[in-house]
Amino acid sequence: MITVISIFFLISSVSSTVTISISPQTLNRTGDTITIKWSGISSPSDLDWLGIYSPPESPHDNFIGYKFLTDSPNWQTGSGSISIPLTNLRSDYTFRIFHWTQSEINPKHNDHDHNPLPGTHHLLTESNRLTFRFGLNVPEQIHLAFTDTVNEMRVMFVTGDGEERVVRYGEVKEKLENVTVARGFRYELKHMCHAPANSTIGWRDPGWSFDAVMKNLQQGVKYYYQVGSELRGWSEIHSFVSRNENSEETLAFMFGDMGCATPYKTYIRGEEESLSTVKWILRDIEALGDDKGAVVSHIGDISYARGYSWIWDEFFAQIEPIASKVPYHVCIGNHEYDWPMQPWKPDWASYVYGKDSGGECGVPYSVKFNMPGNSSEDTGMVNGPQTRNLYYSYDMGSVHFVYISTETDFLKGGKQYSFIKSDLESVNRSKTPFVVVQGHRPMYTTSTKVRDTAIRQKMIEHLEPLFVKNNVTVALWGHVHRYERFCPISNNTCGERWQGSPVHLVIGMAGKDTQPIWEPRPNHPDVPIFPQPARSMYRGGEFGYIRLVANKEKLTLSYVGNHDGEVHDVVEILASGEVISGSDDDGKDSNIESKSEFAVLWYIEGASVMVLGVILGYFIGFFSRKKKESGTGSSSNGRWIQVKNEET
Ligand SMILES: *[C@@H]1O[C@H](CO)[C@@H](O)[C@H](O)[C@H]1NC(C)=O
Ligand SMILES: *[C@@H]1O[C@H](CO)[C@@H](O)[C@H](O)[C@H]1NC(C)=O
Ligand SMILES: *[C@@H]1O[C@H](CO)[C@@H](O)[C@H](O)[C@H]1NC(C)=O
Ligand SMILES: *[C@@H]1O[C@H](CO)[C@@H](O)[C@H](O)[C@H]1NC(C)=O
Ligand SMILES: *[C@@H]1O[C@H](CO)[C@@H](O)[C@H](O)[C@H]1NC(C)=O
Ligand SMILES: *[C@@H]1O[C@H](CO)[C@@H](O)[C@H](O)[C@H]1NC(C)=O
Ligand SMILES: *[C@@H]1O[C@H](CO)[C@@H](O)[C@H](O)[C@H]1NC(C)=O
Repeated sequence: MITVISIFFLISSVSSTVTISISPQTLNRTGDTITIKWSGISSPSDLDWLGIYSPPESPHDNFIGYKFLTDSPNWQTGSGSISIPLTNLRSDYTFRIFHWTQSEINPKHNDHDHNPLPGTHHLLTESNRLTFRFGLNVPEQIHLAFTDTVNEMRVMFVTGDGEERVVRYGEVKEKLENVTVARGFRYELKHMCHAPANSTIGWRDPGWSFDAVMKNLQQGVKYYYQVGSELRGWSEIHSFVSRNENSEETLAFMFGDMGCATPYKTYIRGEEESLSTVKWILRDIEALGDDKGAVVSHIGDISYARGYSWIWDEFFAQIEPIASKVPYHVCIGNHEYDWPMQPWKPDWASYVYGKDSGGECGVPYSVKFNMPGNSSEDTGMVNGPQTRNLYYSYDMGSVHFVYISTETDFLKGGKQYSFIKSDLESVNRSKTPFVVVQGHRPMYTTSTKVRDTAIRQKMIEHLEPLFVKNNVTVALWGHVHRYERFCPISNNTCGERWQGSPVHLVIGMAGKDTQPIWEPRPNHPDVPIFPQPARSMYRGGEFGYIRLVANKEKLTLSYVGNHDGEVHDVVEILASGEVISGSDDDGKDSNIESKSEFAVLWYIEGASVMVLGVILGYFIGFFSRKKKESGTGSSSNGRWIQVKNEET
């Protein structure tokens, strides 16, 4: 009773003096910045905070995110201002200021990162509502994908209402004369299988996901398009280059485990590095010009929303600059799908598939993306939508791309296995000499993930023979948040040529910063060192992505690092079978224009290049890891301590 009275007293005595204002009162679109000003806080604490709420009637504990008032330089005067870019969540926002002190920290009330969640006992003031001008109506989060038909392009987007929307498109920007109607889908709270996804903290109305297919496209031509309707308004005009089966050059940007960054703190830690990944890929896409197409592959662990619904909105807003220009293809990862209620739980997998989807159970992933193919599985929810986008393939130029699911049944005898087998067996090698398979959890890695040993063994037992027999060229995996390239490999043994020994790469380095460590010496757990076995040709810890460039004779994979946007490792794979590792055989690579020591080192002729590469990779990994950890408080004395085993 006493607390209740004193809270009342605080609110009534303090809130009358504290003022808050926002400017502007209306934002036009996602990414626009709001400035929140306050004054009159009589005894400011360094824990006083600004809560961001949407919809405005959300209870105090159900914020979207928060910022400490100490972000404003003169906070100690009791006045200040904070500016933040906001994403349209299809409902209004409000902002509330709370007083909070060290003595009120509740050590049991923590975020996912083990930081205390802010206390909500002393509300000082609340702002007016902030509106997005075209809030419900305007289509946002535009992203493209290939369909099963070569001369088509799919476009998906989100709106607040389910009224009719269309895509209009054409070769001339001023004359978008071709129109297709979009189909709208949505999912409900009851389709989520658990908290936080189905709790009042994590759930927000996801709006309508619209899906339209642009048809009868000519190959390799630049098209302009716009989505929306006359009645409800149009998106901006975007453009893409259509798929070209006969193109001389195939280009892809590939990575796993990216996530997104938010301009506020929230219940889960965001992925700051993902901003650089998107920035450099956008640079590469813009350099392509008007007649070259490309594709993006994000091979699992997509947004890391894990049940906090608005993180999906933040993610799609962040990728829109690239995903509205090139098709954005995905694989399912543990953070989209895994939950104990899911139907796939063989006895060997009891430690493999955990709770990493935060109760989403693959539903947002299945509704917000629509990949080629027709794969689906039941979810653990009796009436929930099926999980889709599990396995599919397409040809682009000289490469046959295959996407698979490591989160659902891939064993011999299953539906997915049959798909992979018949797909690989039916590749036309004169059309696509190269085959690139992608999945989330790695078949090969030298990182210590004891929990994943069983699945690696099953993948080697069931899938590897298919890859080997059908001459898969490259296998790309995520899940481990690092870059690692292997020799051409089969049954743990290095081979010479990729036919019969696919080149495996782990590319889960796009942004998620919790890292499983490399394999330490098992007999010295107190002084761990991390030897690099011969089969691992290059290990890197710098965030980034890989660029794939292929023609009929050669496929090149380059590892681009986020800190300088330059190439740190290269492997060239010739159609004839040769795998040229670590450097460029003719000594010049038009894609690398770099003054950095790394790139220069690659031009040193001779055998020492490989050795240098190995050493460099090792140290780059070591230093960037140390840097990261000192920021997040997960290391003590710079030692390699496993951050959080389940967090991959
Ligand atoms: C928002 O849109 C209105 C109307 O189109 C325009 O006048 C205004 O300048 C825009 N504001 C910003 C911040 O872009
Ligand atoms: C677009 O519409 C025009 C006029 O109806 C038609 O001639 C053309 O074939 C259409 N193009 C596509 C890509 O559908
Ligand atoms: C969330 O899911 C769990 C498990 O299915 C269920 O017990 C609970 O009632 C659900 N909560 C809501 C609010 O639907
Ligand atoms: C997709 O699969 C469903 C069920 O397996 C089937 O009914 C449907 O015809 C398939 N659609 C296509 C386009 O193959
Ligand atoms: C395989 O591809 C080549 C080159 O594109 C083409 O000429 C040939 O008809 C294709 N074969 C089959 C069986 O589709
Ligand atoms: C795989 O490559 C080897 C060596 O080039 C060749 O002999 C074999 O026929 C190929 N297998 C298939 C299924 O393409
Ligand atoms: C894989 O290697 C192991 C041990 O080196 C060997 O026992 C096994 O027969 C090999 N399997 C295949 C399919 O070659």
